[in-house]
Amino acid sequence: MFKPVAGDDSKIEVLGLVRSVRSGKDFAFVEVGYGDSQVQVVFGSKKVKEPTVGSFVSDHAEVKELDTGSFVSDPKKIKELTIGSFVSVVGKKTDLPTGVYSSQTFEITDATAHILSRGDPSTVSICPPGASAEIRLERRLYYFRDKEFIEILRLSDVLCQSFRKFFVAGGCLEVLPPSFTGVECEGGATLFKLDHPGRSSTEPMPAFLTQSSQFALEYMLPGVGDCFCIAPSYRAEHSHTRRHLTEFTHVEAEWGGIDTFDKHLEKLSSMLQSVVGEFLKLGEKSLKKLGKYERVAGLLEKTKDIVVLTHRDAIEKCRELSIDGPDGKPFGDRDDIPEAQERKLIDTLDKIVFLVKFPREFKSFYMKLDPLDESYVLGCDVEVPGVGEIIGSGMRESSFERLTERLISAGLDPADYKEYLELRKSGFCLTSGMGLGLGRMLCWLLDKQSIRDVVAFPRFPGYLMP
Ligand code: 4AD
Repeated sequence: MFKPVAGDDSKIEVLGLVRSVRSGKDFAFVEVGYGDSQVQVVFGSKKVKEPTVGSFVSDHAEVKELDTGSFVSDPKKIKELTIGSFVSVVGKKTDLPTGVYSSQTFEITDATAHILSRGDPSTVSICPPGASAEIRLERRLYYFRDKEFIEILRLSDVLCQSFRKFFVAGGCLEVLPPSFTGVECEGGATLFKLDHPGRSSTEPMPAFLTQSSQFALEYMLPGVGDCFCIAPSYRAEHSHTRRHLTEFTHVEAEWGGIDTFDKHLEKLSSMLQSVVGEFLKLGEKSLKKLGKYERVAGLLEKTKDIVVLTHRDAIEKCRELSIDGPDGKPFGDRDDIPEAQERKLIDTLDKIVFLVKFPREFKSFYMKLDPLDESYVLGCDVEVPGVGEIIGSGMRESSFERLTERLISAGLDPADYKEYLELRKSGFCLTSGMGLGLGRMLCWLLDKQSIRDVVAFPRFPGYLMP
């Protein structure tokens, strides 16, 4: 955004959007910004009697006319510099006086401003701070300029960086899986079906949008070693809940040589500890702006005190706490605990919970059976207070025969999973893996009610814009 001015070392050019304008009779302060950087430009020559933090007027500012109608020529005409205008400002880079603080250590004085694209002032009030959830969705274009949302989007980037740092340090390779697949991974109920072009233009191939990149990671692992991806997954969810989207960013990893369930759980807990710690460090500035730094520091402590509960323990706890099933009756030993009841349990415990060892009938066919009781699987869902499940994970079934049986009992055709089955015959590295919804984790870290408040372009039933 800052450029030197050829032939004049004392001057600097700033390209950016007009973010705010405060004007008096003979002076005006204009904040010009682009992305993370922002600078104050001072027009006029009157000193502010009591400078406030980050705002003051220089003695020598002056505005010159440049050319035809697309510039500001004097502080009285400052209203031409409407918020949202894209401007080029050329002026003197002047150090801030002692005791005055701003986002830069300098301001621009003796400035001339050239309007490159004029902002329509009537748009300023479309999505003001504190706008309703509906406005924030329907007028997303303007919500992208909201100060709080900008920090949330920065923190989304920080969270991706924190995951990458953890995986790369552990020797995990980032891979790029496809969105189109020929098979389901997480049950037919949430599959997006589509026609993929076939060999002939008249015969399309039936295809799906991937629900998870797990199989892609499993296929690649014997060659490339441990691997991960940060990629979209798709679920045709018909629910309008605050934590479901039809497209979400999925952080997935697959690790080899995981021969005990405890090793898998250790991977998950070291990942959570490292990623939350890194997020706190890299995101410090934005977290402080949002007033969430202390919260995340507290969550980092929680990652060191994780509770492991088997599904059976969780049922027992629900009974103790009188959390009943949807029919109003206490849960049976092998009942699935629905989302609402699960959240109530986790909120009551107020800890990060590793919910482990589920009855095999309600988990995916690829999960390894518990050798101590084959009616359970070695899966682990990570549950956090306020949000519920953020991670689905587990050890992978290693036996060709058992996997074939389980595909058949899930109503699937083993022929469609030829390669996935073959992997169990050669090169299978005793893997475990996990998938984490980035939006759900951000909701937890930033204490946000709805996933729609932390995802740039939320996709859910009935909403596809912008
Ligand atoms: O529990 P899930 O379905 O697990 C899998 O997809 C595994 N194949 C992952 C793996 O082992 N590689 O989904 C994993 C996580 C959930 O815990 C949740 O955080 C997120 O993905 N997720 C969703 N996030 C937003 N909207 C949805 N509709 C989501 N469905 C799952």
